[in-house]
Amino acid sequence: MRRAIYPGSFDPVTNGHLDIIQRGCKLFDEIIVAVLVNPEKEAFFTIEERCEILTEVLKTIDRRDCRVTVESFGGLMVQYAAERSANAIVRGIRAISDYEYELQMALMNRRLRPDLETVFISSRLVKEVFQLGAHISELVPPLVEERMRKKNELSARA
Ligand code: PNS
Repeated sequence: MRRAIYPGSFDPVTNGHLDIIQRGCKLFDEIIVAVLVNPEKEAFFTIEERCEILTEVLKTIDRRDCRVTVESFGGLMVQYAAERSANAIVRGIRAISDYEYELQMALMNRRLRPDLETVFISSRLVKEVFQLGAHISELVPPLVEERMRKKNELSARA
C-alpha cells in the first residue's frame, strides 16, 4: 500500500496542483490532500471552503485507481504523515526559485523522518494576478474562479 500526503495551503487549488495529484495517482494507491490549518497566515478561503472546493474539483480529474481524499491538518507535517502511515510527501516545484525553499523543507523533513519522499506548486502568484485583475481561467478549475469572483464581490460589498 503506497500512501502519500500532498500538503499545502491550497488557497485556492490550482490546475498545477490538480496536475500533480493526477500524476501522483500513477505512483500511489492513495493520496491524502492535506490542507494546512495556519491561523497566522491570512487566507483568501477558509479551511472549510478550501476542503469543500478541493473535494468538488477532485471529482473532475482522472484518478485512475488511486483513492484521493481531502483532510485538514495542523502541527508538524511529518508527525501527521506518520499518524496516517504515509510513506511519501508530494510537493510541486514550479520554478528553480521554488527549489531552495523546497530543498530546505525536504531536508528538514528527512532529518525528522528519514523514510519520506516529494513534488510541489504554490498558489501565491495565481492569487496575486487575480486580485490585480488578470484572467485566471487557464490556471484554476472553473469552480475555483467562480468561487473567487463571488468571494471578491461579497467583500467588495461589505
Ligand atoms: O502550499 P504551501 O503553503 O507552500 O505549503 C507549505 C506546507 C504546508 C507544506 C508547510 O508549511 C508545512 O509542512 N507546514 C506544516 C508545519 C511543518 O511541518 N513545518 C516544518 C517544515 S520543514
